[in-house]
Amino acid sequence: MKILAIETSCDETSCAIVEDGRYIHSNIVSTQIDEHKLYGGVVPEIASRRHLESISSVVNEALKEANLGIDGIDAVAVSYCPGLLGSLIVGVNYAKGLSMAKGLPLIPVHHIKAHISANYLTFRELTPPFMSLVISGGNTMIVNVLDYTKFKIIGRTRDDAVGEAYDKVGRVLGFDYPAGAKIDNLSKKGNKEAYTFKKPKFEDNRYDFSFSGIKTGVMNLYNNIKQRKEELKKEDIAASFQKTVCDMLLENTYLALNDKNIKTLTLAGGVAANSFIRESFLKRGKEEEVRVFLPDKALCGDNAAMVGAQAFYEFKNNNLASSALDAIATLSIED
Ligand code: KG4
Repeated sequence: MKILAIETSCDETSCAIVEDGRYIHSNIVSTQIDEHKLYGGVVPEIASRRHLESISSVVNEALKEANLGIDGIDAVAVSYCPGLLGSLIVGVNYAKGLSMAKGLPLIPVHHIKAHISANYLTFRELTPPFMSLVISGGNTMIVNVLDYTKFKIIGRTRDDAVGEAYDKVGRVLGFDYPAGAKIDNLSKKGNKEAYTFKKPKFEDNRYDFSFSGIKTGVMNLYNNIKQRKEELKKEDIAASFQKTVCDMLLENTYLALNDKNIKTLTLAGGVAANSFIRESFLKRGKEEEVRVFLPDKALCGDNAAMVGAQAFYEFKNNNLASSALDAIATLSIED
């Protein structure tokens, strides 16, 4: 079954053709980052306008690269939640139009579920149940993936998402948005033990995270070093920040895995492209005999192929939408 999938939840306009949830025929991603970085983050109004301008050509390119006409497509899927409302609406309306015009089934896909499904594209042998650590620009959560369409949140951030923390710390260090990959690279030259930051813990849910404190910690450290006119080694700050974040992610995730006696873990979301986090999770997996799956780096950030992967399982579960489908800014992965 070939699904044409559309993703427009934030600042990437993307269309992919995916077969049976596992094989990518094409995956076109048109990013708006260069424009948003002028403002230090995504400007929702600009994002929706750019989606509107590029959606048709991105869809045509995806069909062309897959060497298919629209008649070769069996269903249309779209990421309809969560995300920026104005951006989601562009994708949802385009998908609805295409499905109505061509009489194709319309499959609604939850964006975070799609991030988890990026793993099915990289590892065709992977099947649920497993645990997933979702680390993206807008979300951070430990999810028990009970089945392809059934999810239970075990832990989540109580404030900033981990990607957001990377981007805010990046701003302090003088990097453009998004800063995750830049901090990743700079950290390779730094001493990760140079500074320590607090790692918040919660009594009422030991699997929950908080990343807003570390962002303030970095800001204070940076200002203190400057005030004292000491040598400012950005690479040491970056590496120490990254090590603390990674330790927090490892601690809570492995706590959850051990408590629930789960031996398979996947990572998902833009931050899952981080080289230090990838290495650290693989190493800990070996030590604790947990199978760790990391999606291809190209499939960690927002893309439509992951939407096409999840859509296949939503279709099999009879989860179809009518032409009344609406975009939704916030919706739990459990709903
Ligand atoms: O998953 P994503 O593309 O968007 C959301 O759905 O939220 O994630 C974007 C986030 C940004 O915060 C970006 O800085 C971060 O992923 N990111 C990284 C790396 N590459 C992207 N963070 C850390 N290390 C990286 N290599």
